[in-house]
Amino acid sequence: MRFPPVVAFGTLAYLVPSTYAWGAAGHEIVATIAQMYVHPRALETMCDILDLPSNNCYLARVATWADQQRMRMRWSGPLHYVGALDDHPSDTCAFPGSRGWAGNRGINVLDGVKNTTSLLQDWVNHESSDDVASEALKFLIHFVGDMHQPLHLTGRDRGGNSVKVLFDRRHTNLHSLWDSLLIAKAVRTVPRNYSQPLPYPRIEAALRGTIYDSYVRRIMWEGVLNSWDDDLEEWLSCPVPDVPTTSPGGLLGMWNMAYSTTTKLVQAFLRDGVEISPDGPILCPYHWSQPNHQLNCEIIWPKELDEPPFNVRFDSSDEEELAHGHDDDLEDPEPMLGELPLLQLDTPQYSGVIARRMILEKLLAQGGIRLAGILNYIFADEDEFERGQRGAFLTKLDD
Ligand code: ADE
Ligand code: ZN
Ligand code: ZN
Repeated sequence: MRFPPVVAFGTLAYLVPSTYAWGAAGHEIVATIAQMYVHPRALETMCDILDLPSNNCYLARVATWADQQRMRMRWSGPLHYVGALDDHPSDTCAFPGSRGWAGNRGINVLDGVKNTTSLLQDWVNHESSDDVASEALKFLIHFVGDMHQPLHLTGRDRGGNSVKVLFDRRHTNLHSLWDSLLIAKAVRTVPRNYSQPLPYPRIEAALRGTIYDSYVRRIMWEGVLNSWDDDLEEWLSCPVPDVPTTSPGGLLGMWNMAYSTTTKLVQAFLRDGVEISPDGPILCPYHWSQPNHQLNCEIIWPKELDEPPFNVRFDSSDEEELAHGHDDDLEDPEPMLGELPLLQLDTPQYSGVIARRMILEKLLAQGGIRLAGILNYIFADEDEFERGQRGAFLTKLDD
């Protein structure tokens, strides 16, 4: 029996937590928001690359492809995240800190965004094949989502995958909570009155009937089209390289100079870690990720996890006591490491603050807006844009 597409697309099965991904719903929400701001001609090109029919072409359909391939393409696993050697939230948020990045050079989510972008630019210039472009585009749509899950920006305890916590009555881990469970709760609890059509009729058909329909409308009506409206340009902007005005060779020369200066700077302070290609003037995944990485120390990684009773640090005298035993411990035994209680995170102080500050919604919106900016930059002609004052490639289309 063949199921109608709606069954495979936007059902509860999408909220099953997965170890590595920003859950399927998160990735689809990012892609859906991006599609609202993608130029129609850029979209047409992408539908061709992805081999999707133009009357039913939604980027959300391919947003989780990269996670489905992780078993087949084992090399791609470390492309979904990045971590610095010195990073240890919540006490130390190093991005990257003096010892640099962990892992292999070029194999991380920040470089993944840059490399897939450049493969797609090659395709635009007839320098790479359709098959390469199709994979690169599916990876790019996915990686921009992962880059906006703050726990994909730290390597501590495998991005929190190894940190057990409770969420309501569920035993889970910190990473899955952020990949899936917080989104699932937000989707479940969003007021039903968010059904008003968005000013983007082209994505209505993709949104209607999905589990996150009302949630995306809320993110758009309350956030993107209201309180964050003035922030979109800044979300897309990149730092301007500080280059001497006498640099020869016009724009290209200036860019090369900025590139080599930054590379030297980065190399100078790296000791054991790998290098990450510096940001460019339009695409700057490192710059965009810095404040989101900082959220790990501010709120995402609960401080309580490193304190008793959720973590018990033994000093040497404790070790001696453990080794020899002490009768007076019998009355009030310290919990053994395996029996530590689990921290509850469905509380007003944790999930309540995250919901009130719309932290998750803002991350999803930033992912969508930045993905749209990158796709427009790659696929649309520059003269098709009202380029924002800060050079942002965003089309706001009231069609
Ligand atoms: N594996 C190791 N670190 C990870 C991270 N930050 N996110 C996802 N998977 C990981
Ligand atoms: Zn992923
Ligand atoms: Zn994940």
